[in-house]
Amino acid sequence: MPPSPTPTGPRIKSPETLIAESGADLEGHGLKRTMGLFQLVCFGVGAIVGTGIFVGLSDTVAEAGPAVIVSFVLAAITCVFTAFSFAELGGAIPVSGSSYSFAYAALGERVAFLVGWCLLLEYGISVSAVAVGWSQYLNELLDSVFGVQLPTALSAGPADGGVINLPAVVVMAMAAALLVRGIRESARATAFMAVLKIGILLAFCAIAFSAFQEGNLTPFLKEGAGGITSGASLAFFSYIGFDAVTTAGEEVKNPRRNIPLAIMICIGLVTLLYCAVAVAAIGALGADAVGDKPAALSLVVDQVTDSTVGGGIVAFGAVVAIASVVLAVMYGQTRILMSMSRDGLIPRVFERVSPKTSTPVRGTLIVASVFAVPAAFSSLDVVVNLTTIGTLATMVVVNIAVVALRRSRPDLKRSFRVPLYPLSPVLGVGFCMYLIWGTGWTTWVQFAVFLVVGALVYAFYGRRNSRLGAAQAQAA
Ligand code: ALA
Repeated sequence: MPPSPTPTGPRIKSPETLIAESGADLEGHGLKRTMGLFQLVCFGVGAIVGTGIFVGLSDTVAEAGPAVIVSFVLAAITCVFTAFSFAELGGAIPVSGSSYSFAYAALGERVAFLVGWCLLLEYGISVSAVAVGWSQYLNELLDSVFGVQLPTALSAGPADGGVINLPAVVVMAMAAALLVRGIRESARATAFMAVLKIGILLAFCAIAFSAFQEGNLTPFLKEGAGGITSGASLAFFSYIGFDAVTTAGEEVKNPRRNIPLAIMICIGLVTLLYCAVAVAAIGALGADAVGDKPAALSLVVDQVTDSTVGGGIVAFGAVVAIASVVLAVMYGQTRILMSMSRDGLIPRVFERVSPKTSTPVRGTLIVASVFAVPAAFSSLDVVVNLTTIGTLATMVVVNIAVVALRRSRPDLKRSFRVPLYPLSPVLGVGFCMYLIWGTGWTTWVQFAVFLVVGALVYAFYGRRNSRLGAAQAQAA
């Protein structure tokens, strides 16, 4: 059994407490455990594949040139090492809070709060980023179907030459409206979305490879090593979401086996897919033609087929698929805030569930309203970089948590153990730091300010209102 917390000791929640609080039934007999491996992989692909590849590819290509595949592989390696750590923790503590809960069990409340704070970037700001990407493909779709586009003033933020990005706000409002009414993607819709996305990207590869010219891949190292590094940081955005598999911890059959397996399958699958898409796009048109263009995949298909029909189909698929990411990620954010609110670390409004709809109505509306602001007025680069650095920071903590928990709880049942321990989590930290380096100093400064604000919120609110802290004080 874990050591019981002392009033003055670190505020650590034992894995057993976390599992008991979640009401999880690890033997798999509970009615709640409905997701099998296939559904879990679909859920992962659903959370991962979105704006990053459909929209972000062009920015990544602009940074790294044809060597963008090296950037994708570096981002994937970072994810693999960290995924091992997620897999070990997700298999040992199969609860919904993901990295927030892992940090609570391994490193204590203060770090857990800061992880939860960074998850506002990984989920909340990510919703803004994904919504901005959605807006680009909506315009592309309108163009190919009706021959019109929304004016830039109404479909881009000031940094991109517009005034307000209304489609981004609208897609967030739609997602919030569905979530408030308790409408989430059903298991069947999730599987459909995942298959749709993979199908569109495979069809894209088939079309683009038909116009492949080897010469377009040279000079391969056009933007040098620096370009590869900043490209890897951008490419990383398109992998974010693999950890969402661990947030389904309470609904998975045989979680100790299926969670690690699903994470590995998802990363392997999307890495192959992303590299194929990048090579196909550059091979067809060259890095200069793909770099820095909105709705780049539609553009490639239009040019290769010399018609707007194919590009329109890609745009339609992207609009449907990316909208589903907005829904899933916004749902994830409300769920994480609910966990933090239940722990007393943030105001209780986030845990309140409406008796009418059984959903956290106010929490959802707050999340949608707050993160609609960056969606409306920020450029994609800014929100992508902030999402990336916040996610990488939580991943650094997850890798450290593996080591800390192996030391503090060697007895804990682990269905999966990271290979080559402790090398794997150490390399995980190293690669995350490398990608953090690639985001550039403007992002570091923005992130540092964000962290300082988080530390203050914890000091003046979270620490004082913590339920664990209150329980420890009472036990004293
Ligand atoms: N990986 C997610 C996307 O690319 C965030 O949209």
